Amino acid sequence: MEVNALVGQLTSRKTECLVVAFGNQGLDSPSLKSLDEATSGLIGRLVKKGDIKQTDGNFLLLSEPPGLAAERLLIVTTGKDNLNEQAFLNLVAGLSGQLTKLPIKSACVSLEGIEVSGRDDAWQAQQLARLLGEAAYLFNPFKSAEKKPSTLKKVSLVLPYRKGLEAVKTSLVCGTAIANGINRARELGDLPGNICTPSYLATQARALAGKHPNLSCKVLTEKQMQTLGMGSLLSVTAGTEQPAKLIVLEYKGGKSGDKPVVLVGKGVTFDSGGISLKPGAGMDEMKYDMCGAASVLGTLTAAAESQLALNVVGIIPTVENMPGGRATKPGDIVTSMSGQTIEILNTDAEGRLILCDALTYAGRFKPAAVVDIATLTGACVTALGSHASGLLSNDDELAGQLEAAGTTSGDRVWRLPLWAEYDKQLKSNFADMANIGGREAGTITAACFLSRFTKNYRWAHLDIAGTAWNSGANKGATGRPVPLLMQFLMEQVGK
Ligand code: BES
Ligand code: MN
Ligand code: ZN
Repeated sequence: MEVNALVGQLTSRKTECLVVAFGNQGLDSPSLKSLDEATSGLIGRLVKKGDIKQTDGNFLLLSEPPGLAAERLLIVTTGKDNLNEQAFLNLVAGLSGQLTKLPIKSACVSLEGIEVSGRDDAWQAQQLARLLGEAAYLFNPFKSAEKKPSTLKKVSLVLPYRKGLEAVKTSLVCGTAIANGINRARELGDLPGNICTPSYLATQARALAGKHPNLSCKVLTEKQMQTLGMGSLLSVTAGTEQPAKLIVLEYKGGKSGDKPVVLVGKGVTFDSGGISLKPGAGMDEMKYDMCGAASVLGTLTAAAESQLALNVVGIIPTVENMPGGRATKPGDIVTSMSGQTIEILNTDAEGRLILCDALTYAGRFKPAAVVDIATLTGACVTALGSHASGLLSNDDELAGQLEAAGTTSGDRVWRLPLWAEYDKQLKSNFADMANIGGREAGTITAACFLSRFTKNYRWAHLDIAGTAWNSGANKGATGRPVPLLMQFLMEQVGK
């Protein structure tokens, strides 16, 4: 999808579909007034009739509107003059869904009637490009009767004035790159576990690096991980035939001496629970247990495509968690790369076991900050549902930046504490720590476990168990938290 910007009139715009937004100011807005005049008062009559309802998120599609050069007119109502970020994003997601379903190749969109408190045109433009790109996502490599992809190829954002045009254009490029990153993450998430294996993720990472000269990729084998002493990570892969991998992607968009931001993504390509086997119902959804990894690949895709001026390292520990004759058993004790020993009381708490060694490895890059992303705990789904990812951090400034990026992108997070009282729940009688902390506060004790491996740098953990995919009729990966991570990275370089 190509999204560009232009300055001009709405009434004379030749397009297959013209989209206009309608706030409570109604016909007082100059653009709507001109549309009303050009259509000999049609807009006003539709409002009077009640066909244009001035409530949140209503759409009215008119074919061959009289007096306009456009073939179709899609009227979107916002219900308010002033929206918050979330309301705007919902509205534009709805608009994008409508547009991608029409039998058209191109469209023009005017967002003139919409104000979002504290956000400028460039912000609106970025979100529009991103949501249009997301709406065009289609996953059907395995359906024999193919769903038809959207025909929409090009959308122009029409601005009434030239002021700010350059900033809007830059934002559209970023928004499109972010959409591509999101859709990449969704695709990897939606692929089944028999295809999306640790080796598959490694191949995809290498292919991504092959496309961009300032992105390089290195894949460590089990043997190399053995040499590094990653006994915790390797304990998770003991029961499967699939070889584990540690993928390291280095994106050099910044100055050569600049410290990188390191992103670490959980890549469990299928989580059966291991010997602590999960119940059968809904177990298929554990193919999504690599969505942290997918978000790292998606974010690096977006960063490279938008030529982000920052150094970013992506680290993906990837394994399949299976039961088997050689599988790790409850009660087994392993030694992590950090030297700390772990008593594995539940083999289903495997995410933290692979992340801890990857987090120790992350220290090698002398990071400016480390953010890990993981579908880590069912407890996080219970606590926050699908609306916010869990955020836990050892640094208030970093946590604040992630919270702000969440609001800006609409990909929100909610912070939970890492108090010493919770950390005590990890006590083991036989090793330095247990890998589980009991029934209470599962999201926090999981993060407390990770925090024992992140003492040497600024670190934040995102638990995306509730946000990375949708269940039910719309089962599928969401691509979160790529929007959050890209916003965060862009703000690191003052964008
Ligand atoms: N991948 C799961 C977490 C998960 C569960 C994500 C449900 C999304 C939906 C993780 O590996 C896991 O199994 N966690 C356990 C931890 C427990 C054994 C301490 C959990 O949450 O039940
Ligand atoms: Mn598990
Ligand atoms: Zn898991």
